[in-house]
Amino acid sequence: MKTKEIAKLYDRYAIPVYNRLGIAARKGSGSWLWDYEGRRYLDLFPGWGVGAIGHCHPHVIRTVTAQMKKLMHVPNTFYHEPQARLARMLVTSAFPGKIFLCSTGAEAVEGAIKLARRVGYPKRYEIITMKQSFHGRTMGALAATGQTKHSKWFRPMLSGFRHVPFNDIRAVRRAIGPKTVAVMVELVQGEGGIHVASKKYIRQLKELCRRKGLLLIFDEISTGGGRTGTLFCYQQYGVTPDILLLAKGIGGGLNLGIILAGRHISDVWEKASHATTFGGNPVAAAAGIATLEVIRREKLLQNVRKQGAYFMKRLAELKKEIPAIREIRGMGLMIGIQMDRPGAPVVQACLRRGLLINCSQQTVLRIYPAMNVTRKQIDLGLKILKQAFEEALGQK
Ligand SMILES: Cc1ncc(COP(=O)(O)O)c(C=O)c1O
Repeated sequence: MKTKEIAKLYDRYAIPVYNRLGIAARKGSGSWLWDYEGRRYLDLFPGWGVGAIGHCHPHVIRTVTAQMKKLMHVPNTFYHEPQARLARMLVTSAFPGKIFLCSTGAEAVEGAIKLARRVGYPKRYEIITMKQSFHGRTMGALAATGQTKHSKWFRPMLSGFRHVPFNDIRAVRRAIGPKTVAVMVELVQGEGGIHVASKKYIRQLKELCRRKGLLLIFDEISTGGGRTGTLFCYQQYGVTPDILLLAKGIGGGLNLGIILAGRHISDVWEKASHATTFGGNPVAAAAGIATLEVIRREKLLQNVRKQGAYFMKRLAELKKEIPAIREIRGMGLMIGIQMDRPGAPVVQACLRRGLLINCSQQTVLRIYPAMNVTRKQIDLGLKILKQAFEEALGQK
């Protein structure tokens, strides 16, 4: 098939809720993606963060294929080895507790809301979240999300959330009331435009939660799994949450969401008070194991730190040449370029030159390269990005 034919079928049969790029993706390998016309793209935003170890990593393919030949799905009323092994790997690399596996980020957020509400039941159910945060598109996650633009068409929202400014401890203090049970925060707001939580703020938040008896939930759906240079971003803050949420890259391309609950709250759910049919099936769990193995074996955390520092340094140089760039923000390989104007023309100009990046909040270009990205690929990306800026903005 050709891209045009595929697009035609979409136009006719798929609900048009996505802004499509106009590319039909045929195959991928590492940081490269090919379309149906054989054109190759350098993908510096693989899978919106899902491609954290690049497209189609051979170790994930081998592991998943072997698992598929044995057993693809059983409901969670059965035990199976991949889930047991993944649970142990996660808990021993994070903090003492227990996991619940699901299929998406939003589903992990929904589970965290229910877990927090169960802890606070019946008196405390309110969760404080941050303005500009993003926690997903399902109704609970949407209510938690601190941006009305995503929820305005779907009111009334689930009650029980208070949104306060990010990086502002006093605002959290003011919002705490007798019904508050938890605070949920992203350590780097991704969709919100790459805003990094300060170390002081997160430490104060932990202390505040400890004093007030509140749960601290880190939504590490974007930051978790190594992208910021440590397996979990919270490790760079020296602050352990009560609940950690993971998804996106942790499944190596397969659907895997994870809730890790600290030991003190890991047994609060009554039997059957929460469940999922697909979540943590043998194939998804095997993919999670393979992904963690790849991160370890290929020393990807070191690569993230090294290439992330290099990328940031080169972008800081580019900023001097391109007046439309206001600021470079980020952590590891989670990078945002704050522009003084809409970024869409730059994204389009990159696309025409075979480079894939993203834009959020209209003015922030986002770059989440695969953790095994090479310096050569970064250099090529920067070269194209510079040309795209010049073309789109007429700036030299
Ligand atoms: C921090 C954060 N939380 C939750 C989600 C929702 O994840 P999903 O799209 O897998 O439902 C996202 C997705 O971008 C995210 O970045």
